Amino acid sequence: MRAPAIKKMIIPLLFAGLLLSGLLATVGLGLHWYFTGRKPTQPIAYSHNLHLETVGLECDHCHQYADRSPRAGIPPADVCMECHDSTAVDKPGIKMLKSFWEKKEPVPWLKVHIQPGHVYFTHKRHIKAGVECAYCHGQVKAMTTARKVRSLEMGWCVTCHREKNAATDCLTCHK
Ligand code: HEC
Ligand code: HEC
Ligand code: HEC
Ligand code: HEC
Ligand code: HEC
Repeated sequence: MRAPAIKKMIIPLLFAGLLLSGLLATVGLGLHWYFTGRKPTQPIAYSHNLHLETVGLECDHCHQYADRSPRAGIPPADVCMECHDSTAVDKPGIKMLKSFWEKKEPVPWLKVHIQPGHVYFTHKRHIKAGVECAYCHGQVKAMTTARKVRSLEMGWCVTCHREKNAATDCLTCHK
């Protein structure tokens, strides 16, 4: 009696297996998109493309600390107001910017890149070693607000560290 009972189960089991793997693939793709394509809706429709290509600013005009500290830094409204005190003042985005600035409140920009707390990363060492912003952040010049283009997973960090003879012991990146 046993063998036929199992035979009857095989088709439903195979079917369930197929369904499950389909589901896992969908969830996996979703997560992959979330972690590599992340682009939150920001409070002000800022455009990197406009400010880099048309206005002609460089990254370090706004992300001033990249070459000298772990964090690159998000520019305070003061940096924007150097120009927007008088430029495009009637535009809704600039009105919003100005209202934060007048209240002395930081613009609530949402984080695009989020590393787990156990990971230590530093910009300074990479910039000093000549790694371009674009290697890790993609063509920001072509973006409006920033979008995450790399997974920033451990394997990706370690692969480059091996290639460039940088440290690969665990305590380099986990403190
Ligand atoms: C080796 C890869 C790498 C390079 C090169 C790099 N970044 Fe980053 N960047 C990262 C990682 C990883 C994070 C997330 C760090 C975190 O969450 O602690 C990040 C975060 C940021 C952030 C947000 C948080 C912060 O640090 O203030 C800004 C802004 C930024 N990068 C700008 C730049 C600019 C501008 C350059 C070039 C001057 C640059 N990055 C070069 C990997 C890189
Ligand atoms: C060096 C000068 C300069 C700085 C600094 C600057 N901007 Fe601009 N920004 C401009 C110019 C020029 C324009 C185009 C104005 C136009 O189209 O009339 C512009 C346009 C904009 C617009 C689009 C307005 C619209 O709706 O057409 C927004 C939003 C904006 N900037 C936000 C910012 C923010 C946020 C910062 C700071 C992180 C900043 N800008 C820093 C010069 C600057
Ligand atoms: C006029 C100021 C300005 C300039 C110039 C500028 N940025 Fe930004 N950047 C911002 C602002 C404001 C944000 C926050 C909104 C967003 O996420 O796009 C930001 C966000 C980012 C982020 C995402 C930070 C996070 O939350 O993880 C990266 C990466 C970044 N910029 C890279 C660059 C690079 C690379 C350049 C040069 C090619 C550059 N930026 C030039 C103003 C600027
Ligand atoms: C494009 C290649 C490249 C990528 C990608 C990269 N790194 Fe690095 N990293 C380097 C190089 C080269 C150095 C060595 C710089 C030096 O010798 O001063 C370095 C140095 C470091 C240091 C300082 C090491 C020390 O000796 O104190 C840390 C921490 C670090 N990287 C973390 C990371 C993390 C975390 C990531 C991934 C999110 C990452 N790196 C991705 C090339 C890379
Ligand atoms: C060059 C940087 C770097 C080095 C070296 C490194 N890690 Fe990581 N590690 C990361 C980053 C970035 C993450 C977070 C992203 C991720 O989960 O892939 C991470 C995540 C992890 C996690 C959590 C994984 C998870 O799924 O949540 C563990 C555990 C870990 N590392 C262990 C180690 C051990 C053990 C070593 C030494 C053999 C090591 N790491 C060396 C960068 C590094």
